[in-house]
Amino acid sequence: MNVLVVGGAGYIGSHCVRQLAAAGHRPVVLDSLVYGHRAAVAPEIPFHACDLGDEAALARILADEKIEVVMHFAAFAYVGESVTDPLKYYFNNTVATLQLLRAMLKAGVKKFVFSSTCATYGVPPTLPMTEATPQAPINPYGQTKLDVENALKNLARAHGLSFAAFRYFNAAGAAADGTIGEDHKPETHLIPVAIDAATGRGPALQLFGTDYPTPDGTCLRDYVHVDDLARAHIAVFPKLATPGAGFFYNLGTGTPTSVREVIAAVEKVTGRKVPVVESPRRAGDPPALYADATKARAELGWVPEFKTIEPIVASAWKWHESRPKGYADR
Ligand SMILES: NC(=O)c1ccc[n+]([C@@H]2O[C@H](COP(=O)([O-])OP(=O)(O)OC[C@H]3O[C@@H](n4cnc5c(N)ncnc54)[C@H](O)[C@@H]3O)[C@@H](O)[C@H]2O)c1
Repeated sequence: MNVLVVGGAGYIGSHCVRQLAAAGHRPVVLDSLVYGHRAAVAPEIPFHACDLGDEAALARILADEKIEVVMHFAAFAYVGESVTDPLKYYFNNTVATLQLLRAMLKAGVKKFVFSSTCATYGVPPTLPMTEATPQAPINPYGQTKLDVENALKNLARAHGLSFAAFRYFNAAGAAADGTIGEDHKPETHLIPVAIDAATGRGPALQLFGTDYPTPDGTCLRDYVHVDDLARAHIAVFPKLATPGAGFFYNLGTGTPTSVREVIAAVEKVTGRKVPVVESPRRAGDPPALYADATKARAELGWVPEFKTIEPIVASAWKWHESRPKGYADR
């Protein structure tokens, strides 16, 4: 299929582009490069450097490239910034996404795959989190994603849009050959930050909270490999054949991993010590977030290949070791 990958020069999108091409689809990338990297996308893949809110450009691209499905990864995703500058998040994550959807409907493109997040759940009353866990985001970032999820339900009813919204847990790792990987600037994700601390390229790791009601006192999260995420996006295609059908799936391994366990994995894989500064808890960090992904398994046959933290960290290390400055090394 001809697939427009919006945000395809970003971390998760670029891994999906690769898998789409490998599976015989024709990915076309749209990315403003506000955070993405041109070098994350192979030169032979059609690339449109434009903003997702540019409806005139979208109309042209959707028609000229004969797009059949849109995968939408483009968003701002810094939780703290979403609290201090919510409008930036509402405009990019919600308003621009609605513009994208309007351009799609005008062009008759009615299949959509959306990057949602476990942040739409807020602080879950029970664990593990299923798709039926109440959605009560505790920051504007999570709210903007929930707003889009709700809009999708209405567009499915009104216009026959078929969609899948994937609620990712913590995306991590890199492609097996180590040639594309995670390069956010600024980087806030634990694994790359711990690797940078281990190699001395970054400051000591700040460990926020050691007195949580968890086995080792640090927060538990669910790290899911970026290539496993990408696989789910392709596995869902048959579901989109039914007009007006909408699906929500959690994507996580279901394995809770503590911050200290991540640090231990980084130390083992890199053979270096991670300098750590223990700090008080950070406001808004729930003690534990991990998925029940039974639904994706049952309906999509999605079984994560990476089930534990060490091989995920090993793949991230391969990327960081070969490109210590990320895409700037190219
Ligand atoms: N990384 C995670 O752990 C995680 C977890 C849950 C959900 N998500 C969601 O997954 C998606 C991808 O995350 P990522 O880590 O790959 O982020 P990323 O920042 O690496 O990629 C996002 C891409 O979108 C592009 N973009 C942003 N706004 C744009 C706009 N207005 N027009 C065109 N391009 C634009 C950026 O340039 C970037 O290339 C995001 O929607 C994010 O909210 C990520």
